[in-house]
Amino acid sequence: MVTKQQKLCPEVIKFLSSAPKKMLINGEFVESLSGKTFDTINPATEELIVKVYEADKEDINRAVNAARTAFEGCWKKVTPYQRQQLLFKLADLIEKHGEEFAELESLNNGKAIKEARALDVPFTVEHIRYYAGWATKIHGETISVSCGNYFNYTLREPVGVVGQIIPWNFPLIMAAWKIAAAIACGCCVVLKPAEQTPLTALRLGELIMEAGFPEGVINICPGFGPTSGAALAAHMDVDKVAFTGETSTGREIVKASAFNLKRVSLELGGKSPNIVFKDGDIDAAAQGAFNAVFFNQGQVCCAGSRLFVEKPVYEELTSKLASIINKIKVGTGLDLETDMGPVVSHDQFKKVLEYLEIGKKEGAKAVCGGSKVNDPNLQKGYFVEPTLFTNATNKMRVAREEIFGPVICAIPFTDIDEVVTQANDTVYGLGAGIWTKDIKKAHRVANVLKAGTVWINCYSAFDVASPFGGCKQSGYGRECGKDALDLYTQIKSVWVNLD
Ligand code: NAI
Ligand code: MG
Repeated sequence: MVTKQQKLCPEVIKFLSSAPKKMLINGEFVESLSGKTFDTINPATEELIVKVYEADKEDINRAVNAARTAFEGCWKKVTPYQRQQLLFKLADLIEKHGEEFAELESLNNGKAIKEARALDVPFTVEHIRYYAGWATKIHGETISVSCGNYFNYTLREPVGVVGQIIPWNFPLIMAAWKIAAAIACGCCVVLKPAEQTPLTALRLGELIMEAGFPEGVINICPGFGPTSGAALAAHMDVDKVAFTGETSTGREIVKASAFNLKRVSLELGGKSPNIVFKDGDIDAAAQGAFNAVFFNQGQVCCAGSRLFVEKPVYEELTSKLASIINKIKVGTGLDLETDMGPVVSHDQFKKVLEYLEIGKKEGAKAVCGGSKVNDPNLQKGYFVEPTLFTNATNKMRVAREEIFGPVICAIPFTDIDEVVTQANDTVYGLGAGIWTKDIKKAHRVANVLKAGTVWINCYSAFDVASPFGGCKQSGYGRECGKDALDLYTQIKSVWVNLD
């Protein structure tokens, strides 16, 4: 039964009524030069939400030119303190309009409105405020040189015009992660949201202009990967590209970046191990294993989708996990009681269902879920059952390939060496979890796991101050924390002859 539906607030209705939605270039909302539009679909109903103008190569050229003009012109005159104030103003505006963002995000991405309200919106605001604080604290150093009588110092300068290409799983948070650090460092931005989820980024664009950012400093151009995304990655006047998404797309971006050798940072896929030892707190580990995968419909890059469980506690842990999974209420995102909404798109729906079949054929046992949702009220929309595969091995495709859906594979293990080898036996290296009460074991294992983040007796703990990113084919560069400043600044060394 579909129950208490959140009604869209008047501001969201107004936002959706001016269609097709225009892109933000040089301080103005404009149509695409080609006049082409694309459909934005509600994943809970498969209905059109609104049409959006589609950026292609020519529009990206316009946006990059605007960003370059701003970077070499008006933006140079804006002080670090003024950049800070602009970011604070933007964060205040997002907070003020928080309910609109939660509703738009839920409508467009499918996620549960209660999740969007509790996480996506406040996390975005906090993120922007954190980098606002950094704007006034970025500086070079003086260096004691031994080669003669010189004064040597460094300047930490913005890299210039940055292209930012983001995915659809956290559309608003990803836009904030990308934009806030770049602006704090003094860069100008062309952001390309994912074609599935352009709406909160476009609303953000309106608030960017209301906050008073000079024209051209932040440009937002929705479009498809092979056209607008590829144009941005290859553009000769873009100094850096920051990307979050699939590993294979990351490879394309690196190739495209070769034309002008622009700098690249990549936050890519994962197949993260979450390891439960028999001496761990099994109740906490079951809840942690659940949290590691089943939020945001499992569409989380660091999802702990390979759950390694020491044999003596395998039965206990998987049955506790199953009983938590069975309580999930699947429904439309705007239903106030929904815990888990639909996956984002028809493509993603097809992909996840294919993997469920692959898993069953490989001999994994779906003790929860295993197919699309049967509820007669949810036959329109991309609803997948939250799925727990037991009997899984690390060799199965469902344990090796990123599914990016509400699917977890529980794999038994016998000893610490075996589990470390298996946990590291993946092309990815994004996140990892460890559950044990033995503090020495916890640190020993954390040391040898190949991952950008290791969580001990927790999973998916996030803070804007703590760096996030991967190793191996999960990418390079770190977002969040002060490390993200390295992505958007470069060092200049200045020598003064004192003789
Ligand atoms: P994708 O990586 O292709 O798309 C992400 C962004 O990149 C979008 O804005 C897209 O338009 C853009 N893009 C696509 N091709 C491009 C190209 N050649 N040049 C420049 N930009 C390009 O991800 P997609 O196809 O939407 O999803 C496929 C799979 O990727 C998912 O099933 C999931 O496994 C993985 N994925 C991982 C994410 C993560 O955060 N690690 C996020 C999104 C998807
Ligand atoms: Mg793709």
